[in-house]
Amino acid sequence: MLNNSPFQAAAIVRSRMPANFQPRVALVLGSGLGVLAEQMQDAVAIGFDELPGFPISTVHGHAGQLVMGTLSGVQVVCLKGRGHFYEGYGMGVMTSAVRTLKLLGVEMLFVTNAAGSLRTEVDAGSLVALNDHINFLPGTPMIGPNDERFGPRFFSMANAYDAELRKLLQATAAEKGVTLHEGVYIAYPGPNFETPAEIRAFGRLGADVVGMSVVPEVVPARHCGLKVVGVSVITNLAEGLSPFPLSHEQTLKYAAIGAESLIKLILAFLENVAKTPAPKA
Ligand code: HPA
Repeated sequence: MLNNSPFQAAAIVRSRMPANFQPRVALVLGSGLGVLAEQMQDAVAIGFDELPGFPISTVHGHAGQLVMGTLSGVQVVCLKGRGHFYEGYGMGVMTSAVRTLKLLGVEMLFVTNAAGSLRTEVDAGSLVALNDHINFLPGTPMIGPNDERFGPRFFSMANAYDAELRKLLQATAAEKGVTLHEGVYIAYPGPNFETPAEIRAFGRLGADVVGMSVVPEVVPARHCGLKVVGVSVITNLAEGLSPFPLSHEQTLKYAAIGAESLIKLILAFLENVAKTPAPKA
């Protein structure tokens, strides 16, 4: 049985959309970035609990709402909060939500998240544009019958983090004087932070940043053909790289600090997106 939740959720969102609203960009707002939704004009918010297939978040700092409106002159849909694998919903925790965004007609998914850094020169408060990922979660979101309405059984994950859009993001960062590093994200199941030995191993595997999200969103996004941009806000050096043990309080504190420059970057990026024509549907 295929899952029709994305169609039901999209119908509910459409029924609440302002007239002539056609979102071009979807954003997933991670820890500390929810404030971006407050800057939206003509915002309409819908609780995840009203949308079939959306995750009901259990984590402090992750309110679950879909908010549509205008940012920097671009019509956008924001997911304020997300579901995580560690909450127990399985690897498909974000699949229906991402497919709903696809059905709403967005061109790209901009994912943001808090992450630890494996590079000591990239410290708390820094921003890292993701250029690839390593999936260290147990399985992938696409296991099970393929839903051909969204994409093919087998699909490429090369260029999963769109190189052209990353170039535009880097150009925007340079324009605004925001330092934007680049690196590979490794997804860890959590909710415990990694051990120092795991972090040493991940460094050898080629990871630059580590977090507990992103992959459950990016895989279904690529399956259904959405372009992806990803930026991590570094909230800490990964376990074992600094003398301080990690805590969620530290994550929230530095997420708020890094979020300030990420919000500036996102608003300027959207202005640049507005200058490019929307591709024909
Ligand atoms: N590890 C995993 N997830 C995280 C971290 C970390 O060090 N920091 C913020 N989210």
